[in-house]
Amino acid sequence: MDADLTGRRFTRSEEWARRGERSDAWAATRGDILADDRFTRGYPRYVSRAKGAYLWDVDGNHYVDYILGYGPAILGHAHPEVTAAVTRELALGSCMSPLWSPRQVELTELLTSVIPGAEMAYLMKTGSDATSAAVRLARIHTGRSKVVRWGYNGWHDWTAPRPAGVPESTLADTLKFRYNDIGSLRAVFAEHPDSVACVIMMPFEVEAPEPGFLAAVRDLAHAHGALFVLDEMRSGFRMALGGAQEYFGVRPDLSTFSKAMANGFPISAVVGREDVMRGLGETHMSSTFYGNPAEMAAALTTVPILRDTDALATVWRLGEALQTGLAKLVAESGLPAEVVGYAPAPFLRFADGHEALKLSFYEETTRRGILLHPNHQWFLSAAHTDEDVEFTLDAIRESLGEVLDVR
Ligand SMILES: Cc1ncc(COP(=O)(O)O)c(C=O)c1O
Repeated sequence: MDADLTGRRFTRSEEWARRGERSDAWAATRGDILADDRFTRGYPRYVSRAKGAYLWDVDGNHYVDYILGYGPAILGHAHPEVTAAVTRELALGSCMSPLWSPRQVELTELLTSVIPGAEMAYLMKTGSDATSAAVRLARIHTGRSKVVRWGYNGWHDWTAPRPAGVPESTLADTLKFRYNDIGSLRAVFAEHPDSVACVIMMPFEVEAPEPGFLAAVRDLAHAHGALFVLDEMRSGFRMALGGAQEYFGVRPDLSTFSKAMANGFPISAVVGREDVMRGLGETHMSSTFYGNPAEMAAALTTVPILRDTDALATVWRLGEALQTGLAKLVAESGLPAEVVGYAPAPFLRFADGHEALKLSFYEETTRRGILLHPNHQWFLSAAHTDEDVEFTLDAIRESLGEVLDVR
């Protein structure tokens, strides 16, 4: 343990964070690790180990994890079959560009067999790779430059959530619309006729789409000569095997996947209509590491488990139990918050003006060994159990008692 000038002892987590702040430019930009907004109280900063539904911080504290690395660990952390498949593949060599491994064909065949809108697939590494590829392909296909988007679609210039470092000309090419507000999209098309290459959106975040909304977005895009792209990074292999497009029955021209596809290994895919995907032949979108087969082996193990077992049904069932129990606790306690989202990715939305209460609530839940993100959808895995959900609801009940004094 280290000590600051006032003699306060640092936890090992804090100690690592302080070391990072002096040496690591990424750590130096982040006062905290979990969220980029003031959320510093009680959350661990460095993790030593994650297994199944649990993780352990470097101070030895144990948590039931509902962040799951921002969603990928759908089968639970360090799933034995996935780890074994990756280890086997690594032993055969991990980087052979420009040659390909047969895993590439196996995985693209698998993806095109389970994703409704996938006539072809192209494998990349990150979600931002895939959404940027979709936008490039839409621009090639339509010969237009503007993009209309909704939700988080990655960090690259065209979609950067914060404008620092992004050229004005790039910012000017990306337009936005509002969720569940088809009029706002109509207004964008009216203002920018014949110049939009695609509408790209997450299918939902914490609001459910109003009936027909996603189809209306697609139809409006098509009516204006633009493509409809679904960013399925969070919904893919989680809402249903074939993602939100299967769950809601809406067929995009292109869609993008990563996260739960490989249970935490870095691989993504842009998939879609063959005539659009063939635009790949007209551009350069490649990376030294796109051909690495180990991550493909992870996906080739994860997707069949999701397809052939009740893993997704478990994720839904446990998410529903969590949502139902939480809604009851919220109603009984009078917490100014509502349970929102779908069962595989639920969330507790606090009413505006209760930031201090929210921070205290999450400090208490973290202290009690459950890791819930204060500002981002939570995630369930097939490794969570009924006992984990019960433990979580007990911890939430106690936390509410602490912060609302209603116990
Ligand atoms: C909906 C969505 N799109 C795109 C991305 C970007 O993916 P990545 O962080 O792998 O670049 C994310 C990441 O959280 C996401 O949630």
